[in-house]
Amino acid sequence: MLSRVTRRAFSSTRISPYKVTVLGAGGGIGQPLSLLLKLNHKVTDLRLYDLRGAKGVATDISHIPTNSVVKGFTPEEKDGLRNALDSTDVVLIPAGVPRKPGMTRDDLFAINASIVRDLASATAEAAPNAAILVISNPVNSTVPIVAEVLKAKGVYNPKKLFGVTTLDSIRASRFISQVENTDPTQEKVNVVGGHSGITIIPLISQTQHKGMPKDVKDALIHRIQFGGDEVVQAKNGGGSATLSMAQAGAKFANAVMAGLDGEADIIEATYVDSPLYKSEGIEFFASPVTLGPKGVEKIHPIGEISSEEEELLAKAKETLKKNIEKGVVFATKK
Ligand code: NAI
Repeated sequence: MLSRVTRRAFSSTRISPYKVTVLGAGGGIGQPLSLLLKLNHKVTDLRLYDLRGAKGVATDISHIPTNSVVKGFTPEEKDGLRNALDSTDVVLIPAGVPRKPGMTRDDLFAINASIVRDLASATAEAAPNAAILVISNPVNSTVPIVAEVLKAKGVYNPKKLFGVTTLDSIRASRFISQVENTDPTQEKVNVVGGHSGITIIPLISQTQHKGMPKDVKDALIHRIQFGGDEVVQAKNGGGSATLSMAQAGAKFANAVMAGLDGEADIIEATYVDSPLYKSEGIEFFASPVTLGPKGVEKIHPIGEISSEEEELLAKAKETLKKNIEKGVVFATKK
């Protein structure tokens, strides 16, 4: 029999049935991400698609006793991708190749751009109202690619397209807590800009640690910007962040679903079609965003920043502009 406390918890928890699709579910990120989504009670229908391995992952996690149905799809079966996407609510895209030592995220463009373009096209047709969460790198360019594909299909909704930059935010929380010897779960750093190297701008001046010595702060900022390289080097050719990324992706997907559900004050940093620097030709920018029933509810400006951060922002904007243009040119070429 349920205790009174448990009963109250159940009765006050609204469980909304979300259909969620992972494209690239057999990969390093896709597998643990699918596992974490299986554990999320907001998800009732979980569909996993990959060129290889999705059925195995789906069958494996389907034995976990949470209230969702899991199904795997392959490109070999008729309409595999379409059925994986059909009227789904949330699509996460971690399909593509990861970095090897010495590579930048931009080096992945040659392979990942066409993968993301084709998956976006399939999503536009099978699930035109879905929230699309792009994980595949280079995020600064793959998100504009998805936007162009959706525009060409006449279903672009800027409120429902997100570049997942949550890993930068969780790294910032962890790394600042190591410097300041604090509880990482209580550390919150606004990370704005984009998702690669110098386009990642952690706003340390907006934290309670703004007074840290300059050399310590510079080293911290560099670590947040290039933290992904630590993982790439440690894996020594075996790929980039997968487990921490899965956690980040699951956290962001949960926030998107909480927003769709109408929960109040759901704010996460994410790379979106943004008005903040459009007048300077920068169509996409990451900043804290309030998530709501329609997706993006409010894009928050970055707020007051230090003169050092202004310099970082100016450099980031130059790179971002080029990354965005590269994506748009690729997606719109005949
Ligand atoms: P992985 O190589 O382990 O997995 C990628 C999966 O995508 C593979 O299973 C592959 O079969 C699948 N795939 C390739 N083409 C596909 C297609 N057309 N349709 C369906 N599935 C397809 O790579 P990993 O480590 O999972 O990384 C995936 C992507 O995520 C990379 O581009 C990586 O750079 C990016 N990433 C993004 C981060 C972020 O913060 N946004 C952080 C870490 C990685």
